[in-house]
Amino acid sequence: MDWHAWHERYDRPGSGYPRRLETVQVRFREELDRMPPGPIRVVSLCGGQGHDVVGALTGHPRAADAHVRLVELDPRNVRDARAAAAAAGLAHFEAIAGDAADTAHYAGSVPADIALVCGLFGNISDADIERTVDHCGELVRDGGAVIWTRHRQEPDVFPRICGWFEERGFTRQWVSAPDAGYGVGVHRSTTAPRPLTPGASLFTFVGYDVLRGVQETTPKVSTA
Ligand SMILES: C[S@@+](CC[C@H](N)C(=O)[O-])C[C@H]1O[C@@H](n2cnc3c(N)ncnc32)[C@H](O)[C@@H]1O
Repeated sequence: MDWHAWHERYDRPGSGYPRRLETVQVRFREELDRMPPGPIRVVSLCGGQGHDVVGALTGHPRAADAHVRLVELDPRNVRDARAAAAAAGLAHFEAIAGDAADTAHYAGSVPADIALVCGLFGNISDADIERTVDHCGELVRDGGAVIWTRHRQEPDVFPRICGWFEERGFTRQWVSAPDAGYGVGVHRSTTAPRPLTPGASLFTFVGYDVLRGVQETTPKVSTA
């Protein structure tokens, strides 16, 4: 999978990808709207080219308060995310080229107010999804939100992911409709954050194509 070219899906009108992106941006802006005055800490795991976070912050009245750390493996995506953030005038935007599974990359930026976990859960094993959800208790503060995505194709793990969050002190803030053509969830932490586990690895990024054991065939409405 070429994870730089993957982002071209956002330019496919009528597919689930731009609609998923718009939904994430809307939910992200809602979280920004409810933040108290002062800095807003944001982390984005496997943040790609930053379409969600940069798009949501562009023109938002709290953009100057946002301190973003995006972690992304593909240096081309890191470059594009930095360029997009600069074009949007974001003053506190860090894009780290590295493995988002490595907790070391979040030191100093968590517990965050908002964590974006978008385009990840469709690319890792169920056990790693649950493990990552568990570590979300280290990534966001009490009252902080995790905005996450997972496609709704069978086997549909989306309801189980909700359960994994809710077993760990997160409340369901919003979830997309089952037939939306994509899956987006917002869960809010209701507990004090645990300290970041040093040296932990949250997941192994397998890739949805490998997970399914087939090459992609241009899905019409589903999203990874
Ligand atoms: C499905 S895309 C989602 C990108 C972005 N979060 C979005 O929703 O627009 C998955 C991204 O994960 C990145 N990626 C893959 N393995 C990674 C890893 N171990 N650490 C960080 N990023 C990784 C890919 O390069 C790709 O940009």
